[in-house]
Amino acid sequence: MPSPWWRARRDALLALADAQTPRYVYDLATVRDRARALRAAVPADRYLYAVKANGHADVVRALAAEGLRPECVSGFEIAHVRQVLPALDPAEVLYTPNFAPRAEVAQALADGVRVTLDNAATLDVWAEVWRGHDVFVRVDPGVGKGHHAHVRTAGTASKFGVAGADLGPLAVRAGALGVRVVGLHAHVGSGVDEPEAWAQTARTLAAHADAHFPDAAVLDVGGGLPVPTGGAPAFDLAAAGRALAAFRAERPEFEVWVEPGRYLVAEAGVLLTRVTQVKRKGDVRYVGLDAGMNSLVRPALYGAHHDVVNLSRPDAPVEGPAEIVGPICETGDAFAHARPFPHAQEGDVVLIDTAGAYGAVMASSYNRRPPAEEVAV
Ligand code: LLP
Repeated sequence: MPSPWWRARRDALLALADAQTPRYVYDLATVRDRARALRAAVPADRYLYAVKANGHADVVRALAAEGLRPECVSGFEIAHVRQVLPALDPAEVLYTPNFAPRAEVAQALADGVRVTLDNAATLDVWAEVWRGHDVFVRVDPGVGKGHHAHVRTAGTASKFGVAGADLGPLAVRAGALGVRVVGLHAHVGSGVDEPEAWAQTARTLAAHADAHFPDAAVLDVGGGLPVPTGGAPAFDLAAAGRALAAFRAERPEFEVWVEPGRYLVAEAGVLLTRVTQVKRKGDVRYVGLDAGMNSLVRPALYGAHHDVVNLSRPDAPVEGPAEIVGPICETGDAFAHARPFPHAQEGDVVLIDTAGAYGAVMASSYNRRPPAEEVAV
């Protein structure tokens, strides 16, 4: 694994922390690098960026400049990308809503955004919204994958997509409304550490297209590329690309789209925070930070691993295990448990790594504590 970008930028990061903490810092060069690596390794007709992972305007612009189109999950995200990218043709936006209100879906269709139909029942209850439009259909491929149960998006226990058995009746109903299904979409989950996953999804979608949707020329296999942390082996992106290439050789008549989020932005972001207090209780050392779960909720919500570094003492030896915690009034307000950590004291600047995806976008003002602000460099 190459050393992360921030190792060579310690002085600049300490200066940014002096101006303010807690603070997200995004390295746009890393964002561009990941976009290029994706394009080089994975053969797709269209590369989209799942804006939900990080909506910072500079990040959205950097990825648009690399030729990635936005994938949005809400009308608010669509409005945001259209404001950030004024020249964007709405037809380039893919909108994949889930249980969104009727008016939001109707607006997207009226604006010419490419809309994914996620619930066959809406063809009946919203017939006039859908009538005459070309759509994608989000298919539930049956088996979800991913780093945590909360991010596996398939199977009857998941609220996403249309079950395979319901696709035949959906095709009939769509035909009666003059709705053409021009693409099939699936996203099995997030943080999927299996290079074959996209190719498997493509084969599943191709089989459904063969069975029911003669106009479906596009297969969108979703996102889900993992970003291993904590010394786990790197994901084999080249193998994912080869598996997709094999599918494309079998079924060259289909266009294939991919829409990762995390892979493009996770490693480009760090959360800079400052030690507020250190406490010992029994054998346990608590290192408290001015960032909490209201700035970065992934460890509390998924038990996600983020490397934590005392940037003020880069060469200090490990002093022992520490609970790295925030100032929020919840026992779950922690970034790491029993983590080997050097000496730390009030005022030290602490860096939380791989925080560029699903960090600031999931923040809240719980306890009326403002979450970390964002800066791109
Ligand atoms: N496409 C669709 C339809 C999605 O729902 C998602 C993510 C993506 C693409 C991008 O997935 P990615 O490449 O980032 O795995 N908050 C969780 C992740 C939730 C993902 C939601 N959907 C986390 O912090 O791990």
